[in-house]
Amino acid sequence: MTAIPHPTTDNKLISTLNGKKQDRPPIWLMRQAGRYLPEYREIRSQAGSFLDFCYNPKMAVEATLQPIRRFGFDAAIIFSDILVIPDALGQEVRFEVGEGPRLTPIVTPVDLKGLRTQSEPGHLAPVYEAIELAKSSLGHETALLGFSGAPWTLASYMIAGKGTPDQAPARLFAYRFPDDFQTLIDLLVEAVTVHLSVQIQAGADAVQIFDSWAGGLPCGEFERWSLEPIARIATAVKQRHPHAKLIGFPRAVGERLTEFAKIEALDALSVDTSADRRWIGRSLDTSLPIQGNLDPLVLLAGGAALDRAIDNIVEDFSHRPHIFNLGHGILPPTPIAHVEQLVARVRGKA
Ligand code: CP3
Repeated sequence: MTAIPHPTTDNKLISTLNGKKQDRPPIWLMRQAGRYLPEYREIRSQAGSFLDFCYNPKMAVEATLQPIRRFGFDAAIIFSDILVIPDALGQEVRFEVGEGPRLTPIVTPVDLKGLRTQSEPGHLAPVYEAIELAKSSLGHETALLGFSGAPWTLASYMIAGKGTPDQAPARLFAYRFPDDFQTLIDLLVEAVTVHLSVQIQAGADAVQIFDSWAGGLPCGEFERWSLEPIARIATAVKQRHPHAKLIGFPRAVGERLTEFAKIEALDALSVDTSADRRWIGRSLDTSLPIQGNLDPLVLLAGGAALDRAIDNIVEDFSHRPHIFNLGHGILPPTPIAHVEQLVARVRGKA
């Protein structure tokens, strides 16, 4: 792989991650490549299974670039999924249409023996190839983001075999078999560190760590399974790539955001829809870049409610480096006109 030595620096999003406030915040959207776009649905229908799609560099790059062509976002996020990690570790992963991911669940500690101790060599090469290709197709004004799931969120899918409302199977497994669960988390810390590092080497300017299920863990479990693994990963990635930028997304953790703000290796925090902007203003250092918070439902609703929500977020985060984004992924029924309205308004053109 040809390593790209210098990250994109003359770019609004990277500059914001470097702690510089902008006149207008840069913008991208979580799940900006996806089913709300007719051109996405078109290639999705030709791609075969969802994982085949993820591992097809040409198609993955096409999906990555579609929202950039249409909306001119300040960042492209590589088209992939967090569940490529369990797949690379040898767990069976499928995506059922209309049902979401299905994995062969890890029910007892014995099942952990079926996992590889590290990602299968070459398995994730198509992801890195897609990053190289996407990087060479993007202008300097568009940052390229890589990403990974955080260990706790990955483990919650690996143990339950699917998404769950409360991650009960993983929480139970961790109480019943703490040492085995720690072994799984340690394995994931290593696999995620490598995955993020190679994405950066391949050309990602910044990477985001998604801990979608970090909320809801009790005290003690939260530190052990969410906070500490993310701190270990961020520190290790930063050691290997001091210039790379890291964004943490511990979803729905409320005031525990202060714990993530202490992780020096994280350059920014992405915050969910329920995060309280006034509390953030009071509690998180104004030098810390913040991303996110727009309710995906208000983007779906559009109209005056959307304008008001955008203005409030821009105003409330105007005293710090700010990246405009949603609090969670864009919803498939979202009208394209609403995304156009959003981008124009954030840029002060509507
Ligand atoms: O545009 C982007 O943001 C980049 C690509 C991306 C996808 N998934 C593509 C995808 C990213 C960053 C993800 C992250 C992801 N995947 C997370 C963390 C963020 C979050 O939403 O909490 C999680 C938990 C997953 C696991 C996952 N993948 C689920 C639960 C699902 C099914 C839900 C659904 O919307 O169908 C997926 C499938 C998936 N990943 C789709 C896309 C575009 C839709 C599948 C399709 O097109 O058929």
